[in-house]
Amino acid sequence: MNPPRSRILGTGRFLPEQVRTNDQLARMVDTSDAWITERTGIKERRIAGDGTVTSDMAAAAGRAALEMAGVPASKLSMIIVGTVTPDVPMPATAVFVQQKLGAGAIPSFDVSAACAGFLYGLSIADQFIRSGQAEYVLVVGVELLSRVLDWSDRATCVLFGDGAGAVLLGPTRGDGDRPSGVLSTRLYSDGALADALVIPGGGTREPLDAEGLANKRNKVHMSGQEIFKVAVKNLTSATTDAMVAGGLDGADVDWVVAHQANLRILTQVASRLSVPLERFVLNIDRYGNTSSASIPIALDEAVRDGRVREGHNLIMCALGAGISWGGAAVRF
Ligand code: UT7
Repeated sequence: MNPPRSRILGTGRFLPEQVRTNDQLARMVDTSDAWITERTGIKERRIAGDGTVTSDMAAAAGRAALEMAGVPASKLSMIIVGTVTPDVPMPATAVFVQQKLGAGAIPSFDVSAACAGFLYGLSIADQFIRSGQAEYVLVVGVELLSRVLDWSDRATCVLFGDGAGAVLLGPTRGDGDRPSGVLSTRLYSDGALADALVIPGGGTREPLDAEGLANKRNKVHMSGQEIFKVAVKNLTSATTDAMVAGGLDGADVDWVVAHQANLRILTQVASRLSVPLERFVLNIDRYGNTSSASIPIALDEAVRDGRVREGHNLIMCALGAGISWGGAAVRF
C-alpha cells in the first residue's frame, strides 16, 4: 500500500463584521483612499469587536472547516495555529481553540512565522500525516492585528486587518499517476531582516514599561520598502521551488492562492512566474493584509464560490516578518 499523503478535506473562514474603509482611515490619519488604493490595492479591512479574542476567530474558522469535511472535532489528532497575535503570551492560542472546539487531549501548538505562519503550519501537518503519526490535523491562520497597530502611524495602520482561515488536512493513499493533496512545501527564513517588521517591546529584549508603552513599542513597526524589495524576489523563487518539487509548471497552475500584502507585489510575482493575475485569488481590496490568515481566507472563498474545484492545481506563497517565507503546491 502507498504511504499516506495529506489532502485538504475542508476549509473555513471567519471575518469580523465591522468594516473600516480607507475614507474612515483618512479621517484618523494623514492618508487618502487614492494613496492606499494605488500603493496597496486595499479598499477596506475588517476590525474585530472589543469582546473578540484571537481564539474565537480561529475556532469559528476551524469549525467551518470541520463541518465542510464532515469530521467531528473529537477525531482531530492535532491543532496548529499560525499567529503572531495570540490571546496571551502563554499558553498557545491553539489550546484555547482546542478548548472551544471540544477536541480531545491532542498536541495543540502555535507557529510564529508571521505572514508565512499558515504555510509553516501546513508543512508541519503534512509531515505528520505523511509519517503516519497524525490523521486529521486542523491548520489555522489567524490574526487580530488591529490590537497591535499604532492607529496614529499611517505607514502601518492602513495595511492590516483581522480575520481567520482554516483547513482540515487528512490522509489519502495515492490515486494513480495524478495524486491529490499536498504535493510539496518549501519554507525559508532570513534573520538578517528580523528588525524590518517587528513588535519591539513586550518580550525579554525589551520588557514593557511606561516609557515603552508611551513610545508604542508594543505596536507593529515596519520598514515597508525593505520588505517590498525582497518580497517579489523571494515569493517568486519560493513559488518556483514548490512548483518544481510538486512536478508542476506555470501552465499547470489553476489558481495561485498567495498572501495578500500588496497588489503591486502580486502583480510583479505574476509577471515573473508567467501566470496571469486572473489566476490569482485576490481579496486584498476587502480585507487588507491579514498576515497568516490571508491564504486560508482566500482559499475558503474560492472553494465555496466554486472557483477552486477538485483536481485543480494550486500554488500558495507567503512572505512576512522574520523575514520568513515559503511556497506550496497542492492538488485540491
Ligand atoms: O505582510 C507582511 C509583509 N509586508 C509587506 O509585504 C509590505 C511590503 N511593503 C509595501 O507593501 C509598501 O512598501 C508599502 C505599501 C508599505 C508602502 O508603499 P511604498 O510605495 O513603499 O511607499 P513608501 O514607504 O516609499 O512611502 C512613499 C511616501 C512617503 O512620503 P514621502 O517621503 O515620499 O514624502 C510616505 O511618507 O508615501 C508616504 N506614505 C503615505 N502617504 C499617504 C506612507 N504611508 C502613507 C499613507 N498615506 N498611508
